[in-house]
Amino acid sequence: MKKIKFFMSLLKGHRVRYFTVIFLGIIISMAPLVSNYLIKTIIDDVICWHNYSIFMPILITLFSITLIRMLVWYYNHYTIDYVGQVVLLNLRQQGYKKILSLDFDFFDKNRTGDIMTQMTADIDFIRHMFAYVIYAFIENFVIFTGALIVMLATGHKSFYVILAIVLPTVGYLGYKLANEVRPCFRRVREMRSELNTIVQENISANRVVKAFGREDFENEKLEEANSNFKHAQFHSNEVSRKYMPYMSNMQSVLIFYNIIVGGILVINGNMTMGQLVMFNSMVWMVTGPLGQFGFLLNDFANCLASTEKIIDLLHTEPVIKNIAKINKTAINGDFEFKNVTFDYKSEGALRNVSFKVKKGQKVAIVGSTGSGKSTVINLISRFYEADSGEILIDGVNVSDIDLELLRSSIAVAQQDVFLFSETIAKNIAYGNTSATMDEITSAAKIAKAHDFITKLPEGYETIIGERGMGLSGGQKQRLTLARALLKKPSVLVLDDTTSALDANTEKYIQQQLKCYFKDKTVFIISQRISSVKDCDLILVLEDGKITEQGRHGELIQNGGYYARVYEHQFGDFAGLAEVNSNG
Ligand SMILES: Nc1ncnc2c1ncn2[C@@H]1O[C@H](COP(=O)(O)OP(=O)(O)O)[C@@H](O)[C@H]1O
Ligand SMILES: [Mg+2]
Repeated sequence: MKKIKFFMSLLKGHRVRYFTVIFLGIIISMAPLVSNYLIKTIIDDVICWHNYSIFMPILITLFSITLIRMLVWYYNHYTIDYVGQVVLLNLRQQGYKKILSLDFDFFDKNRTGDIMTQMTADIDFIRHMFAYVIYAFIENFVIFTGALIVMLATGHKSFYVILAIVLPTVGYLGYKLANEVRPCFRRVREMRSELNTIVQENISANRVVKAFGREDFENEKLEEANSNFKHAQFHSNEVSRKYMPYMSNMQSVLIFYNIIVGGILVINGNMTMGQLVMFNSMVWMVTGPLGQFGFLLNDFANCLASTEKIIDLLHTEPVIKNIAKINKTAINGDFEFKNVTFDYKSEGALRNVSFKVKKGQKVAIVGSTGSGKSTVINLISRFYEADSGEILIDGVNVSDIDLELLRSSIAVAQQDVFLFSETIAKNIAYGNTSATMDEITSAAKIAKAHDFITKLPEGYETIIGERGMGLSGGQKQRLTLARALLKKPSVLVLDDTTSALDANTEKYIQQQLKCYFKDKTVFIISQRISSVKDCDLILVLEDGKITEQGRHGELIQNGGYYARVYEHQFGDFAGLAEVNSNG
């Protein structure tokens, strides 16, 4: 039922056209029955009884039926092909829109290869169903029932016996085939997905593969997935093949029976020659579709397996809902975490985290890798929802703020740099497409990216490769920073954005930010004490818990994690640096 509703929704705007085609298909599929009857008349009345006067009219009718059938055939196939393409286009757009609307949770749970399979192979199966399977099924069904009815109505009683044996047998075989083949198709789908995932990962990670010399290992992995796919595909074909001979043998049984029993009936004068010829065609018209049903059921099972996946995708709801209860037009920049606890799946990413930030403060978050620094940022931007506790922004619960406002006001220069295969200018302007070239260059200047960009062969118009291939880590970080700055956010977050920069460049950028973000809240995540020691508030995270917070001087006096890292980074010069910074 859910599927029928889904199919109907796909045909929206084309329903009349599609059902007209189906209707015409039903009518036109009856044409062979009429033609057969006319041929029988020619044999019996014209040839045997020499009734020549009806010959020409019959011939003209036969010719007209063939011509009309040809034209309708063309129109119908043109239309279903067209509707199929429209369905494909709509599904791809709907699917893509859905994927974009889903949050981090979805991408944590689904592999890129699986999503790619849904967006390509699965939706193509659904197109195939509209453009071929449904129509062919109805066409065959009409021919089959039409011929069967004529056979039963006009045939000798002896045919009932054989039909009573053959038809249930074929029906049973078709049913068994469909049941057996469905899990096979599901497996083919899974294996195709697996294969896609491996190919996609290998292309994305080609540098890692090469750097670690793991080509052989990756080749083997692919070989295995490839061969699993082959086996799955072969097995599903094998299942279909197993049933096909029985189906076609049933056809031979009927034809054989028709010739022998029909022949005797003609000799005894209980059947005319024309009837025998007509009956012979009817046997083909009954058994031909029966054979087709096997293939069509195959296709149908395949399409349904894909449809389930697509319906699941389209019904996936984002975990984060935009239910803005507070009418707020801007984010000021005050933050408060009250006893916030959060888990991704099983791990304790954050435990009872509490802190308070005032607008305009520069806040540092330090801690070892995996301590939960990026998680704090993910919760601020509401990419995930806290399990317990409260996150307040300007005194309002983060989930009561309009998501669009929230995310457009907070710019995060992310730890995992991602650049699109586009020009540098477009990459920088990604969050602010209306930015002028002047604005783009000034953002690049603050991020100290302008100098290296102008040295590139085509400056800001240089197209960078996938994920920014061809740029160094530090250059990519500076582009991401420029991109975040150009958004002109109320709150800026630098998540390890300066880790690949040298100390001087980092210092320059920090000074620029101090000047441009004087009144705005800035979060800085960094492993380097030198980048954070001037911050108004330093949060120290250890295993998802805040173990220390305060200013540099206080934390040094505390003698905890921060002081140890400081000692470690500045070594013997620690004391000296302290004197310098105080003096
Ligand atoms: N998307 C995710 N799914 C599951 N676990 C995650 C995810 N992101 C981070 N984690 C886990 O949560 C913990 C905190 O991660 P994170 O905040 O990224 O640390 P940090 O930024 O300090 O290096 C780590 O144990 C990490 O493995
Ligand atoms: Mg991180």
